[in-house]
Amino acid sequence: MTLTPPRSLDDLGPDFDADDLPSNDTAATSLSEIVASRLSRRRVLAGGMAVAAGFLTTSLVDPSPAAAAPGSGGGGRGAKGGPLLGFTAVPPSTADDVTVAPGYRTTPLIPWGTAILGSFPAFAPGTPGEQRPDGSVVTTGNTAAQQAEQVGMNHDGITYFPLADGRRGNEHGLLVLNHEYTEEGYLHTGGFIKDHKPATAEAVRKSQNAHGVSVVEIRKGGDGQWAPVRSGRNRRITANTPMALSGPAAGHPLLRTQADPSGRASKGTINNCGNGETLWGTYLTCEENFNQYFRVEGTHTKENADLQKRYGVGGDSFGWAAHDPRFVVTPQDPNEPNRFGWIVEIDPFDPRSTPVKRTALGRLKHEDASMVISRGGRVVVYMGDDQVFEHAYKFVSADNWKSMRARGRSPLDEGTLFVAKFDDDGTGRWIALAHGQNGLTAANGFPDQATVLINARQAATFVGATPMDRPEWTAVDERTGTVYLTLTNNSGRKLVDDPTTPYDDRPNAANPRVNNRNGQVIRWDERGGDHTATAFDWDLFVLAGSGTGADGSTVDPANAFGSPDGLWVDPDGRAWIQTDGSQPIACNNQMLAADTATGGDRPEIRRFLVGVKECEVTGVATTPDRRTMFINLQHPGENGGSTWPRLDGLTVPRSATVVVTKDDGGVIGS
Ligand code: FEO
Ligand code: CA
Ligand code: CA
Repeated sequence: MTLTPPRSLDDLGPDFDADDLPSNDTAATSLSEIVASRLSRRRVLAGGMAVAAGFLTTSLVDPSPAAAAPGSGGGGRGAKGGPLLGFTAVPPSTADDVTVAPGYRTTPLIPWGTAILGSFPAFAPGTPGEQRPDGSVVTTGNTAAQQAEQVGMNHDGITYFPLADGRRGNEHGLLVLNHEYTEEGYLHTGGFIKDHKPATAEAVRKSQNAHGVSVVEIRKGGDGQWAPVRSGRNRRITANTPMALSGPAAGHPLLRTQADPSGRASKGTINNCGNGETLWGTYLTCEENFNQYFRVEGTHTKENADLQKRYGVGGDSFGWAAHDPRFVVTPQDPNEPNRFGWIVEIDPFDPRSTPVKRTALGRLKHEDASMVISRGGRVVVYMGDDQVFEHAYKFVSADNWKSMRARGRSPLDEGTLFVAKFDDDGTGRWIALAHGQNGLTAANGFPDQATVLINARQAATFVGATPMDRPEWTAVDERTGTVYLTLTNNSGRKLVDDPTTPYDDRPNAANPRVNNRNGQVIRWDERGGDHTATAFDWDLFVLAGSGTGADGSTVDPANAFGSPDGLWVDPDGRAWIQTDGSQPIACNNQMLAADTATGGDRPEIRRFLVGVKECEVTGVATTPDRRTMFINLQHPGENGGSTWPRLDGLTVPRSATVVVTKDDGGVIGS
């Protein structure tokens, strides 16, 4: 979901053109040279640095059979020596069907409303008692209580946890997936209604129950088809599930509410976008645009008003405030929004476990979380904050993760949060967001570490982090240690700094385009191949766009794409790139695969799959053997134009997981 900037083409300026840069602007004139050098650096360094980094990471992480591939240079290779991108590209599509590369097939699985719990209520669109805009009342459909026993709406980040070792784990596992938000018209009436707001408390409750996370046991049958299992492991986590707040900010006055004076026991998770998993087998769900669920009333202190402004709290976009006072922010009880915007850890194997909000990882519009192990057994989590001019972060645990857990401590409760500064010369620095360091002191508005974490955005700006073009998903190439980050778009970047914003609005080498409607993928190598390092070297992997030359993109017309969002680098070195936004060609949102051994001015990228009308393609997981891939198609028909997946004779569009398999049973993408 994208709330800022506005998506209307009317709001976007002309595509970037290098000629638009005025020659008398020193920063701007040097920019094209800087971009050129950032694009070509990788070719120079492709051998040495990748090998050095690969040595360090593969010595710490179980290497895949293909781990010898990196550093071979000159194009990636598949595990059996074939081309890395072993499939035929698909053409652009605007059909209301999934298009996938020849030799592959796709099957929808666990669409919104699939019964997984309790009385296993059959899916029926509509909320009894809800009013349509014409005043008529909905009389059929699932209740709020039934929705809590069904898969939620708007599938997003997803992880597959095998339930057995070896081969059986490729056929039986838990799918854990986020439900980012709700399409309120479809949810309550079964039809498309733009900006529908629920009319009843029951409908608000149903909306809250369609949010959150689903845990669904799935199994592959003898016919090769995957299906959900009626299992005691299944679980729904919603906007009302009890949660614990832990880490340095837990219990802080800014996290206390009238309902929870402890500041340690919150309720629910919302707007769960990207995700991650830990080395110890838990799921990480990321709270993104939590701000829009609240209505702010009254006159607040300057401190609270500033905090609300930086995170954009307000709007009541889903109409919850009218029927649930928890989402009304008053001067007397102002802190409920501060209890969202966290990364939440969920144990998918224990349906009775309490999810935990890990405050040490900072309060952001969290998009995604990629965990890697680094020197000394510390864990590092890479994270994006998805809004224009916000930042890229990483968290480094205080100690070896195994020893911390052996002492009963969470590696995600103690450590250091860093924010990235991308310098124009292709180097970068991680700046610690630690109270008492880098000016984060009481005199500057940061009286303690809890405030730094709750107000991480302002802390990041204060220390000079680089304002980015909407950081989305991160991914780490485990063979080389290279970290990738999608920057989806930013139509607000200007050639002249806006003095009313706290950051520099002008282009920089990492975000080189004004009116950047198509986005880019940036990547970096931590210095010395050490993920805990405070210095790194970066380059631009791809500048997305039409490939026609008019928009500064480094793609070809044949693989044109825009608004990269979901991202995963598989163990063979394929970067899977998923899009969410208007495309620079006539095409629905799509998933492409890129060869990470390329880059520079023409990375090798190939279109693998195109989604249905008005959906985004998001979330990617595979079985351990990578012969089954799970992705999600979110919000098909978000403007009323889709009937997918057309199951059971129904035409209401439903977000769903899509199972991708290869007809010859091979590894996906090979
Ligand atoms: Fe929920 Fe930034 O995508
Ligand atoms: Ca500014
Ligand atoms: Ca996303």
